[in-house]
Amino acid sequence: MSAIQKIKGFADLFPEDARSFTHMEAQARDVFSRFGFGELRTPVLERTELFAKGIGEETDVVGKEMYTFTDRGDRSLTLRPEATAGVLRAAIEAGVIEAGRATRLYTFGPMFRYERPQKGRMRQFHQINAELLGSPEPQADVEVILMLEDFLSSLGIADLAFELNSLGCRECRPDYRAALTAYFEALDHEKLCEDCRRRMHTNPLRVLDCKVPACKALVADAPAIGDHLCTGCRDHFSAVLALVDKAGLKYALNPRLVRGLDYYQRTTFEVTSGAIGSQTAVAGGGRYDGLVQLLGGPDAPGVGFACGMERLAMLMEKPEAPQPDFFLAVTDPRAVDSAILLAHKLRKRGLTGECDYTSGSMKSRLRHAGRIKAKKCYIIGAEEFDAGQVTVKDMDDGEQTRFDLAAFD
Ligand code: HAM
Repeated sequence: MSAIQKIKGFADLFPEDARSFTHMEAQARDVFSRFGFGELRTPVLERTELFAKGIGEETDVVGKEMYTFTDRGDRSLTLRPEATAGVLRAAIEAGVIEAGRATRLYTFGPMFRYERPQKGRMRQFHQINAELLGSPEPQADVEVILMLEDFLSSLGIADLAFELNSLGCRECRPDYRAALTAYFEALDHEKLCEDCRRRMHTNPLRVLDCKVPACKALVADAPAIGDHLCTGCRDHFSAVLALVDKAGLKYALNPRLVRGLDYYQRTTFEVTSGAIGSQTAVAGGGRYDGLVQLLGGPDAPGVGFACGMERLAMLMEKPEAPQPDFFLAVTDPRAVDSAILLAHKLRKRGLTGECDYTSGSMKSRLRHAGRIKAKKCYIIGAEEFDAGQVTVKDMDDGEQTRFDLAAFD
């Protein structure tokens, strides 16, 4: 019978890879807590309407990529495709968003999108996500961008490119949308994909984000949002750029950076790397004023980002496995109990290590102890067992010493 295999686009993380994820989470906790952020954990399942409403029906994420099913109680539920909507739902439900005060939350975890799997693109992937709620100031955008930059540098990842844009607001966006629709109508729009022929009327910004090559070519000369910003948005973006400049962050302006989710307003940003294949975005985010209210909360603005952990893992050096203090090899079956008890006592003294009571040869066990870089190899064979002792071999200098087991009591 053939063994059951994992689902396409899903991955198992064994210790070597899991260590990278643990390290990223530890760095994020450290950096984010220095910015006053606290951790929030939300469920992986939410009501489908949360994402339909929050992310937008016209987005690829909602329209094509969600894992949606009806549960046994006839409710439509969806495995979260991103964290922001769930974080806002939780913050609204718990009433933690207060007028005039910033709420800072971060979260980690698996997200699910039914995309075509390829290098750096999974159906289950992991994000590190941060949201700053309640602050309309451009400085909040910059603080979040600087926090992202601090976090990425804490991972020792170099050569990342920051791109920034402003998407305008409810005031100026209609003017821009009208300009875009007019542009597409004047074009040979039959060449657009079927989705975009619809979206050019319903949500023309989505056409700018379409991945179909024919659509990409047709948007090349589309009007830029920068020429349609209202005074408020222009001032906001200028203030963001001025402070980012003062902070010394290098970035490029990208007027095509519309992001794949409908909730963004004003500042958007993305961080890309040229070293991980075609899926270049390692992080993305922006401001989403109006979303909290759309989801039934108070009129609180927000700004945040998410990093893709699989993509960051490809850019990071793999953390070394922790070096165990001991490797305890038992070669006499009578000695297994004594060995387990000795290992237990060593661990109670704060040492780390494993007790090996398999039947392999001493040579292969010592090879394993060397591979895991154990500092000392403890051996209990027949001789040691009869004498109530243990041999301790220092793996650096090879020196061997015998101790009475009673000495560890
Ligand atoms: P996003 O750009 O959709 O934004 O995703 C953020 C990051 O998640 C991407 O830059 C990428 O690194 C990673 N990612 C996305 N899809 C996949 C995939 N299929 N496989 C591997 N990695 C992937 C958001 O999700 C927003 N919620 C970010 C945000 C937070 N905006 C404001 N607050």
